[in-house]
Amino acid sequence: MSDDVVNKTRRRVLTGATSVVGAIGAVGVAVPFVGSWNPSAKAKAAGAPVQVNISKIEPGAMITVEWRGKPVYIVRRTEEALENLTKTDDLVRDPNSEEPQQPPYAQNHARSIKPEVLVLLGLCTHLGCAPMFRPEVGAADLGGDNWQGGFFCPCHGSKFDLAGRVFKGVPAPINLQVPPHRYDSDSVLTIGVDQEA
Ligand code: FES
Repeated sequence: MSDDVVNKTRRRVLTGATSVVGAIGAVGVAVPFVGSWNPSAKAKAAGAPVQVNISKIEPGAMITVEWRGKPVYIVRRTEEALENLTKTDDLVRDPNSEEPQQPPYAQNHARSIKPEVLVLLGLCTHLGCAPMFRPEVGAADLGGDNWQGGFFCPCHGSKFDLAGRVFKGVPAPINLQVPPHRYDSDSVLTIGVDQEA
C-alpha cells in the first residue's frame, strides 16, 4: 500500500470515530430536554405510591424508603418492644392517638395495621428534621429507665416512642405521622395508598 492510500484510510477511520462520539454527545444532551418537556409525567412519578418488600427487615431493625420526596421509616418491632409501649403511655402527650396523625386503620395502641410493623413519616412534627432511630432500651442520654426505644430528633431534642408518640415536655407538639399504606401481601407494602376497610 502506498503512503497516500494509508493516509486516506486512516483519515476515514478517524472521521468515522469522530461521528460516533458526536452522536453519543448529542444523545447525552437530548435526555435532559426530554425530561423538562414532560413535567406532568415527572410530577406523577414523584407523587406515585411506592411498593416495598419488607420481608428482609429483621426484628428490631428499621429501613427508610422515599415517598413524595419524604423519608418513610418502616420498623419491625419485637414482641418486647410492643409490650414496652404500655410503659410510655403516661409519658407521652397523646397516648391514644386522638390527634388525626394516622389513618383510621392505624388508630390503635401500636399505631399500625400489623402490630409488629410500624410505618411512619420520618419528619419531626416540630420543624421537620429527620428523627434518629434509637431502639436501645434504657439509653442513658435519652432518659435511662424511661426510654423504651424510639426516635430522637437531634435538631431541638424532641423524643418519640416506638409507636411515634411524642413525649411530653419536648418542642414537637404532636405524634409522628403515619402515612397512608396498605398490604398487598404478607411481605409487600404500598406506601401512599389506603388499606381498604
Ligand atoms: S425539628 Fe425536631 S425538635 Fe425541632
